[in-house]
Amino acid sequence: MSVKGMADILPEESWKWEKIRSIFLENAMRLGYKLIETPVVEYANLFIRGVGDGTDIVEKQMYLFTDKKGNALALRPEGTASAARSLIEHKYSQELHKWCYFGPMYRYERPQKGRMRQFHQAGIEAFGADDPALDAEQIALAYRLTRLFGIESGKILLNSIGCPSCRPSWQDALVDYFNDYKEQLCADCKRRLDINPLRILDCKIKGCSEIAKNAPTGIDYLCDSCKTHHNKLKEYLSAMNLDFVEDAKLVRGLDYYTKTVFEITTDEIGSQSALIAGGRYNNLVKSLGGRQTPATGWAMGIERILLLSNIEHGSDELIYFIALDEDSKAELFNLFISVSRNRNCYFDYKGGSLKAQLRRANRIDAKICVIMGKDEGEKGMLLVKDMKKKTQKLIKNNELGEIL
Ligand code: HAM
Repeated sequence: MSVKGMADILPEESWKWEKIRSIFLENAMRLGYKLIETPVVEYANLFIRGVGDGTDIVEKQMYLFTDKKGNALALRPEGTASAARSLIEHKYSQELHKWCYFGPMYRYERPQKGRMRQFHQAGIEAFGADDPALDAEQIALAYRLTRLFGIESGKILLNSIGCPSCRPSWQDALVDYFNDYKEQLCADCKRRLDINPLRILDCKIKGCSEIAKNAPTGIDYLCDSCKTHHNKLKEYLSAMNLDFVEDAKLVRGLDYYTKTVFEITTDEIGSQSALIAGGRYNNLVKSLGGRQTPATGWAMGIERILLLSNIEHGSDELIYFIALDEDSKAELFNLFISVSRNRNCYFDYKGGSLKAQLRRANRIDAKICVIMGKDEGEKGMLLVKDMKKKTQKLIKNNELGEIL
């Protein structure tokens, strides 16, 4: 048995993963994002400091362990903190750096449709610019990808949660508001009221989320700079004719966000509605020990994308080689190896009757069967059978390349 919440990607499905990965990389790279790969294991402290120790991810969902030296390590629950760590560690300049990644992440959550303990994210991060046009570029790319994957139901939700200069007044208003309901809040939220009242807005417990419905919203407390950023972003999105819904309740479950937060959601997979999520995090790099570096990014959940996408195989047609006679088999095998240089080929090593081999060819959707029996072998001929048109033709061995 595989570990609960962690799944195999079987050969019947793996082509879809490759396709999603290549469409993602191709489109991200067109906008200048370059692939970065960071380790799956990081010092736990990176996420405690980066994602925030009041968040569910850090408090409840991290896979933690110690190595033989007693270092506290974690399986990465997300990719943004790792990217920021790498930017600092490798002393990247203050120029704009656009990175993308694709890989497994780990969170100890209750598994359900679209929610796994090992799941995969494709993500982008851009470090070095505070331009709202960059936020717009990233949202446009996220939306474009959902369309390329054949998902029509994606809806863009947008909000701004301010910055360290305006957020304290919103937090004060939240504390005032939630204090009136303190006794009705869950134990976690009672604690959050003192350390990070914003996290109450993200609580999944029904009683708390009901109370949170009427809580003060960040958008009403934005400073001029955050307000201008938000309005500009909306202008850019509108200029691209990208529809979005302003959602003043959207706060996201990670502490590093400043200003823009967004999600692309769908109502087609039940409660796990976020396909892509992200936002701006202008203070993360500094809080991890780097220089002040504005940044923004998002990540997409591949398992959720796969639940809805209708991408097609679109691979080359398969040519299936059937040998019916041991004496001529070497010749057919030689042809098979040479054709496989530039075509999808399959040699039937299980052998048996023509009927049995044709049945196998059908099962894997072969387009053409190349058959050599005793008679054909002796005459230097091949039987080429078109499986779809149900026609066949006797040809000379050296005509095969031409026919295919
Ligand atoms: P996140 O919202 O925690 O953000 O995750 C992003 C996406 O990953 C979600 O919208 C969802 O599609 C997928 N996801 C998350 N948890 C699971 C799970 N347990 N099973 C399946 N899919 C899941 C982040 O991780 C941020 N690092 C995004 C970001 C990048 N912000 C800025 N840059």
